This record gives sequence, C-alpha cells and structure tokens, in this order.
Amino acid sequence: MIPYGKQQIDENDIQSVIDCLSSSFLTQGPLIPQFEQSVAEYVGARFAVAVSSGTAALHIAALAAGLKPGDALLTSPITFVATSNAALYAGGLPLFADVDPGTINISPTAVENMLEINPRIKIISPVHFSGLPCDMHTIKKLADAAGAVIVEDAAHALGSRYDDGSAVGNCKYSLMTVFSFHPVKSITTGEGGLITTNDEAIYRSLLRLRSHGINKEADTFQVPENALTKGVSNPWYYEMQDLGFHYRITDIQCALGLSQLKKLDSYLSRRLELVKRYDLAFADSELIKPAQAAGRNQSAHHLYPVRVNFEAAGLTRAMFMGELRRQGVITQVHYIPVTMQPFYQRLGFLTDDYPHAKSYYAQALSLPLYVDLTDAQQDSVIALVLELLG
Ligand SMILES: Cc1ncc(COP(=O)(O)O)c(C=O)c1O
Repeated sequence: MIPYGKQQIDENDIQSVIDCLSSSFLTQGPLIPQFEQSVAEYVGARFAVAVSSGTAALHIAALAAGLKPGDALLTSPITFVATSNAALYAGGLPLFADVDPGTINISPTAVENMLEINPRIKIISPVHFSGLPCDMHTIKKLADAAGAVIVEDAAHALGSRYDDGSAVGNCKYSLMTVFSFHPVKSITTGEGGLITTNDEAIYRSLLRLRSHGINKEADTFQVPENALTKGVSNPWYYEMQDLGFHYRITDIQCALGLSQLKKLDSYLSRRLELVKRYDLAFADSELIKPAQAAGRNQSAHHLYPVRVNFEAAGLTRAMFMGELRRQGVITQVHYIPVTMQPFYQRLGFLTDDYPHAKSYYAQALSLPLYVDLTDAQQDSVIALVLELLG
C-alpha cells in the first residue's frame, strides 16, 4: 500500500534512540534542551519549548498568551480540530475566518472583517496549510491594529519560508509559533510538539505550564522564606506557581527528533521534487488541479492537496478514493471544515458562513507525499489517478 504520508526512519535515527536508551536519562535529560536549542537555531527564534504533542503546544500557547474565558481565538476552518480546540481548553471561544480559495490559508480580508465585528478576539492563529505560509505581513498589521496577538499554527510548516526567505518559527510576525512532530509531519519524534518565541516571559510561562505549573530551575521563588534555611537554598524545594499540566516530552523522543532534524533539508528537497513532478503531470488536466499553486519554493509541502472535479469525472469522491485504495493507493481529505464537526455544530457554527472552505472541501483530496515515495511509485499513482478521471 502507498499511504498518503509517513515518516522516514534510517539507521541513524535508530542508533540515536538506542544511545538514549543506554544513557542515564529516559525522560528529563540533556536531549530535550539540546533538541529545543537545535530547532530554535534552525528557525532563528530565541527560545523553544518542546512538549508532548502539537495539541499540547497549542493549549499552553493559548494560556501563555493570556486567553481567558470571554476571549476569542480566530483561526481557519480548514485545519485540524486541535487549532480551535485550544481556545476551548483555555475557556475561550473559537471563531473562524474563511480561507482564500487560491491558497487555502486564512484570508486576510476575512480576518479584517471578523476583527471589525468581534472586539473580543485576543489571539489570531493562522494555519500554514500544508506548509504554505500565510500572508503574515498583512495579518500582523491587522492584529496589531486590533490589539490581538498571533500564535502561528505551523504544525505543517517546519522548514517553510516566508516570502523574505526567513524561516517560519522565527516569530517575526507572532508571539509564538507551534510545531507538531507527529509521524507524517516534516520531522517526527513519534508524538511531540514545540513552541518557539522571542519573548522571555512567555518562554518562562510555557516552561511552567508544560510541567504542573512548576519550573524548578529558572523561576524566582514567590515564597522565599520556604525556599531558604538561614539564607541557604533548600535543595528539595519547588513551587507550583500556575495551574500547569504534564505535557513534557521525553529524552527518547528528542533523541529521534535531533537525528531527524539533521535530515530536514534533504527531506524538504525531496518533497519539493515530488510536488513539482505532480504539478507537471497534472498541468494539462481540467479535472485535477493543485490546491496551492503558488509559493512552491516557500512551502515545506507537508501534503499534496488537490482539487478534483469529481462531478465532471462522473464519480463521487468516495468511489474515487475507494478505487484508489483497492489498487493500493491511500488518499486522505484535509480537512473536513472544523465548523462541520458535530461538536462545533452544537456551538452554532454554520459552514455556509465560510463558502470558500466549503467549496474547497467538496473537491479536496491529498495524494501520497512522503520522503521515501519513489519516482516509480509516484508515477503509478499519477497514472492511476489520470486513468480513473478518464
Ligand atoms: C494544523 C494542525 N494543528 C495541530 C495539530 C496537532 O498536532 P499533534 O497531532 O502533534 O497534537 C495538527 C496535527 O495533525 C495539525 O495538522
């Protein structure tokens, strides 16, 4: 079977994890700060905090940004549910702004309209869909004017570049940027996530939130008389200063992450190569079009999303996906608009309010894209897709 996405694991990754297993630390050892520093350096941010998942990262980012009950977080309906759920975890309200049909990223015009009518929007979370960076320049201007902060959802975008060539994650447009290291992402730690920021107070807050509200190393104590005996610090002492969580990542996971990070640039080149081969193969088809034709050299290409005119091909999407699967090719749909989920329906959201998201969803399909996909395998996917579309 050819899946729609998967991890690439080589002997160096395996050895890196074995080395960790043979060391003194499995959980809170030296590899976590080493991984954090390496990612921070790669993207050009001052600080990085690694956590147990991208979802955990989004949750504590919303809290660190100060989202409170009554505040709203604005994001795209074309994302994984974790982006908007972060607002709900923090007791806030998720809101959505429609996508731009040319990029499937949040539309700055729709953001502007939402900001005009919703003074409670405290966080804007642009999602760099499939790795294509959003129009951050415009979104930052809008956020600044409205007094909102930006938390980028870059779960798909480790290795992506803004239009000035700098790396997504450097937080030049945002307070924080969130990554995911789930196996289908740019690099993997098994499960895992990470937040970058240039703000030291936010960094310290994230360290507390990921571990029960306790940051033993870096915080000044709030009750010094409990921390000291005759002026000498009590070595056992720690303080819980906020209500935090157990969202820690492990050294074992970071051993894998460090080894994967070394291969990120070669991963990105291979993904781009495959994307360009798909683009070329479908260039003459009226029935299948890349969903994001622009920014090919900026995107980390987490996915290869296409729009398929199933109706014109005389097929349903379910038939098309079913036939591909029968012939060994697994495709996926990214994403069902979050507003269509029963939970969000119960909150009163109507997908009709986001017509571009709705029309994209009707035609959306993600074709197989991963580092180990060979040219020959890709050719067979292309041939099969074109044959089924007639
Ligand atoms: C856009 C987006 N945001 C957030 C997440 C959550 O990441 P994780 O699966 O690491 O919790 C995902 C995961 O698929 C995602 O695609």
